[in-house]
Amino acid sequence: MAAPTKDLTSEILAALSDKDSLSSKDAFPNIEFAELKAALDRLGSRFMVTYKQIDQEEAVLQPEGQQVAENGSHEARVFEALRQAVEGLSVQDLEKAIGDKTVTKVGQGNAFKAKWISKNKDGKLVASVDSIQDVTREQLQTVQNTRTHPEASVIAALKKRNLIKLQKIISFEIQKGPKFALEMVKEETDLTADMIESGAWKTATFKPYNFNALGADQHAGALHPLMKVRHEFRNIFFEMGFEEMPTNNFVESGFWNFDALYVPQQHPARDLQDTFYISDPKTADKPHAVDESDKKDYDTYWDNVKAVHENGKFGSIGYRYPWAADESLRLVLRTHTTAISTAMLHKLASQRGPDGRPPPARYFSIDRVFRNETVDATHLAEFHQVEGVIADYDLTLGGLMEFMKIFFTKMGIEDLRFKPAYNPYTEPSMEIFSYHKGLGKLVEIGNSGMFRPEMLEAMGLPPDMKVYGWGLSLERPTMIKYKISNIRELLGHKVDLNFIERNAAVRLDKN
Ligand code: PHE
Repeated sequence: MAAPTKDLTSEILAALSDKDSLSSKDAFPNIEFAELKAALDRLGSRFMVTYKQIDQEEAVLQPEGQQVAENGSHEARVFEALRQAVEGLSVQDLEKAIGDKTVTKVGQGNAFKAKWISKNKDGKLVASVDSIQDVTREQLQTVQNTRTHPEASVIAALKKRNLIKLQKIISFEIQKGPKFALEMVKEETDLTADMIESGAWKTATFKPYNFNALGADQHAGALHPLMKVRHEFRNIFFEMGFEEMPTNNFVESGFWNFDALYVPQQHPARDLQDTFYISDPKTADKPHAVDESDKKDYDTYWDNVKAVHENGKFGSIGYRYPWAADESLRLVLRTHTTAISTAMLHKLASQRGPDGRPPPARYFSIDRVFRNETVDATHLAEFHQVEGVIADYDLTLGGLMEFMKIFFTKMGIEDLRFKPAYNPYTEPSMEIFSYHKGLGKLVEIGNSGMFRPEMLEAMGLPPDMKVYGWGLSLERPTMIKYKISNIRELLGHKVDLNFIERNAAVRLDKN
């Protein structure tokens, strides 16, 4: 390849000066494609030239073809050597005369076949005709000069014998453009203060904007699919008047995560197998006010929770087992965000509305929870929980079912089914199912219920204030939305970052 020409654009203009059109193949045979294209683009954008790209296939000689074009075909060289040796030659002498073993061997065979040579009675090789026509050499010389051959069958035959190869040649047909000139005017890219001051802007030529230029890659970050679906859920909650709960604490005490929700202290969910316990520090302080502004009554609440576990209170008969404060103070990675809902409801109990009673409230959260589970295609040891809570006076179960219908309809999920279920903290409790058209069956989409009176009254909430609660995972709708079957493709070290960057924004099919 030739060294890059400094001013290729002016060379092109000069080459075009006395003709209307030229081929880059003839005029600039040694300039690299990219360099030539760049120069033509520069001229093209100024309308100084127009050009067309021409893709062609050309035949070029392989080293052996080169040799044949120069020295003749193998068989012709054998014939020529024997024609000169009037007495004929032994095979060894022929090889010496030609000086190439392969040429001698191949040429001999071909020359015999063509009946150019024969053996005489002494066993020597002799020429058997006066003259020959070296067709192969002539064909190759044609290819060498014209880069092709008038007969396609010749090209095919030479290619088969590996004497030539075909290669793609890209060239340009270049023509004078409407603004053709021999000099490329310097184009200004910026209007400067100096130009305005001196008046130079009046005569300057400005470079036009290139609207086809691709912008520089910004290497911007990308939102994870889970965060995109979370965004949609948050919007649904906000438009329904919910307030977001602060979920920025992954560690909770057993009290908020379990005891306040009446998960018995010897419940399997509290086992090491199901819950991650913190080893350092191991325990929390007893729930208490963090500062003066915190007017919540923690001690009565603590005592009430203990009383409900041990002997029952607020209409419950209790579990009737000795309740251990130590167990309640153990630190855990929260297993559900209901721990936070509970703390929020406890806070609500200390608030007063215009009527002097705790005001109705709607809370939601979407954040991580942790469960010590065996990891498989659909389970990790952590997931994101979407949780909602509604506190109001005289709520009924029918109201919860109706609310669930409205809530899920907003994300395109209709035709809900409710199945009685059990949570230690809600009564009644319902699992929520929906018919999944893709899977052709009912799938569980959430868990819900009305918080038990002994949970709410223990906090100090009035008995006629009822609270709905429900929870679902963020992962399940995300996996359905993005058609991911293995959760490890969504979270963790095996996630394909290209997938994260490329995936589209999500829109829940709202109705
Ligand atoms: N905590 C429940 C779960 O983890 C969800 C839920 C919240 C159920 C509130 C009822 C009330 O599945």
